[in-house]
Amino acid sequence: MKALVTGGCGFLGSHVCEAFRADGWEVAAYDSMTKYELRRTGFGTDAVRDYNANVLRSMGVEVIVGDVRNQEQLLDHAAGCDFIAHTAAQPAMTISWENPELDFTTNVGGTFNVLTAARKHSVPVASCSSVHVYGPWINDSLREEPTRYSRDPVAIRESDPIMNGGQSGKLSPLHASKASGEFYTTAFADMYGVRAANFRYTGIYGPRQFGGEDHGWVANFALRNYLDWPVTIFGSGKQLRDILYASDAAAAFLAYQRNPVPGTYNIGGGPPHMISLLECVELIDRLGGRRSAMKFGPARDGDLSYFVCDITRARSAFGWRPHVRPEEGVGKLMQWIEVNGPLFKEPVSAAAVPPEMEKV
Ligand SMILES: NC(=O)c1ccc[n+]([C@@H]2O[C@H](COP(=O)([O-])OP(=O)(O)OC[C@H]3O[C@@H](n4cnc5c(N)ncnc54)[C@H](O)[C@@H]3O)[C@@H](O)[C@H]2O)c1
Repeated sequence: MKALVTGGCGFLGSHVCEAFRADGWEVAAYDSMTKYELRRTGFGTDAVRDYNANVLRSMGVEVIVGDVRNQEQLLDHAAGCDFIAHTAAQPAMTISWENPELDFTTNVGGTFNVLTAARKHSVPVASCSSVHVYGPWINDSLREEPTRYSRDPVAIRESDPIMNGGQSGKLSPLHASKASGEFYTTAFADMYGVRAANFRYTGIYGPRQFGGEDHGWVANFALRNYLDWPVTIFGSGKQLRDILYASDAAAAFLAYQRNPVPGTYNIGGGPPHMISLLECVELIDRLGGRRSAMKFGPARDGDLSYFVCDITRARSAFGWRPHVRPEEGVGKLMQWIEVNGPLFKEPVSAAAVPPEMEKV
């Protein structure tokens, strides 16, 4: 059995490759190796960009440098595969504001091409969406009483409104491209019988995540604590999230492959994995034995003040649920950072910025 993992050299993709290898699969990681958001992490991108690919090769994963926007190339590499995990994306909201064309071609065009490959080769596919598709409507109910949900968490269901900015929130191109990708996935399942799923992921964290202020906030906080750089919190820091550890996130693909019931699924930690940004900084400080310096900035357009999801649907359809609690998962992330410390202390190289990124 062979799995094609688009974006396989990314954070989540690398964990999906690892999970399928551990299950005895042949695995090909199909990745353009761009990682645009790394430009803003502040640490050297050259070494970091190759790190995941080298780890994958050491696990026996085939690494293909390929672009999901190139349909012909993708169709060729999907031939002979039994499952496609689609994790390749432009995942950062900030980059979507600045370069909506890159966001659109990657997230909408790329997802369309992946679905076309799944259809042509008659294989099941699961595609990464994001809880961003819900939009910041839930912020409205928190304006009067910001701590309401910490006392009484509400779990957002797939049937709740999506693409809703609420009274004061804004929808970004990332919201639009992720939701469009979802619509195509659903249409390919309905119209062509493709066994296709959308995974609406909540915030994921873990080893091999090169988090910056744009994307991957738990890793960004942990890396900054390690490097003794200040953590910037946009908003009050009381924002709540149901974070999800990387191996739990990757396990959803394996579970879906075993029982590919088409649909749209929340894949998140749920109420037991709920943590505020400030609590997460405190946890990192405690586990690392170092106090983080903090800066506060205004809340960013499109950010969610609260997100905790209901994962009943994924549990019922293909038996998935998370296992790793934040204390354990953040501890593993911090051990990985300590072991790989020199990687983050590399000087930043201007040459590491891919030419396409110059537009941003
Ligand atoms: N990390 C999170 O917290 C989180 C939360 C919600 C949703 N998601 C979704 O999960 C998926 C994976 O996110 P991630 O955190 O691993 O991101 P990531 O940036 O680490 O990985 C994405 C990978 O896709 C590759 N890529 C980008 N454009 C490509 C293209 N045109 N062709 C081929 N490869 C390309 C990049 O090089 C990178 O390796 C994304 O769809 C993201 O929106 C992630």
